[in-house]
Amino acid sequence: MRNYLSLNDIDDLSSWVEEARKLKQNPTSHKNLGEGKTLCLLFFNNSLRTRLSTQKAALNLGMEVIVMNFGNEGWALEYGEGTVMDQGTSEHIKEAAQVVSQYCDIIAIRAFAGLKDKEKDEAEEVLIGFKKYALVPVVNMESSVGHPLQALADAITLAEQHTKKNPKIVLSWAPHPKALPHAVANSFVGMMRLQDAEFVITHPKGYELNPAITEGLTIECDQKKACENADFIYVKNWSSYSDYGKVLHQDSDWMMTKEKLGDAKFMHCLPVRRNVVVEDAVLDGGQSLVIAQANNRTFAAQVVLKKLLE
Ligand code: CP
Repeated sequence: MRNYLSLNDIDDLSSWVEEARKLKQNPTSHKNLGEGKTLCLLFFNNSLRTRLSTQKAALNLGMEVIVMNFGNEGWALEYGEGTVMDQGTSEHIKEAAQVVSQYCDIIAIRAFAGLKDKEKDEAEEVLIGFKKYALVPVVNMESSVGHPLQALADAITLAEQHTKKNPKIVLSWAPHPKALPHAVANSFVGMMRLQDAEFVITHPKGYELNPAITEGLTIECDQKKACENADFIYVKNWSSYSDYGKVLHQDSDWMMTKEKLGDAKFMHCLPVRRNVVVEDAVLDGGQSLVIAQANNRTFAAQVVLKKLLE
């Protein structure tokens, strides 16, 4: 594997999940693998879990880690070919990616969607720019359209539940005051295509995800009906895709409640807004897997870094 940019870079999900679970049992079992190697984390956006779990994963493998908050501390980057750089951008991705590559062995990047220009977001200029010009492997720590480290952690979490053969898994939209990207939902949908599960997506009309991503999948706009007899309910807000980046409404009826959850396990990538996205009783109850999901971010990142080092 040269890079970890999307779920397409996973060649055999079940063996990756198994390997992650083994690493979880003995996190420093490959401490020598990363000796003398450096991971560079570049953040164009905020983070808690991704930042700390990816560092922890690298430390478990014996790597050194350097971190830069590129969004507010780096030079504004130019991505266009042949641009006359007489406006706001100070450095071209061509130089930046090659320079960073000289300081490390793997580059990991977080760069969210701007949610203003769909075409620009889908081109993933930061991630793809680094992939094009970097001299070392690149890892996606959440890009405009995907969050494959989160989806891998979610697959590990599901596997740990020793659930029945073909569980019912629901991805439910929930209200949120801010316009959020589609990346987590997109990658969770992609991960569900790799699972043996009865998968249902539920959202209000107008919040359809990219149809190319959901093609052929079950979409039920009645949330209560969608959640009936579910084994797992993954809750996430996203903004409109068709009316790109817009918050169409914040219908509080879509908040996840204990009643709607029934006997299902609750999943969310975090951070989560309490009593807006999900009520306290769910997050504080025994059916919530959110802390386990966050823990598994370390072992998802560790299996990815291990494969890149090998
Ligand atoms: N789930 C997730 O990626 O969390 P952070 O945004 O805090 O990294």
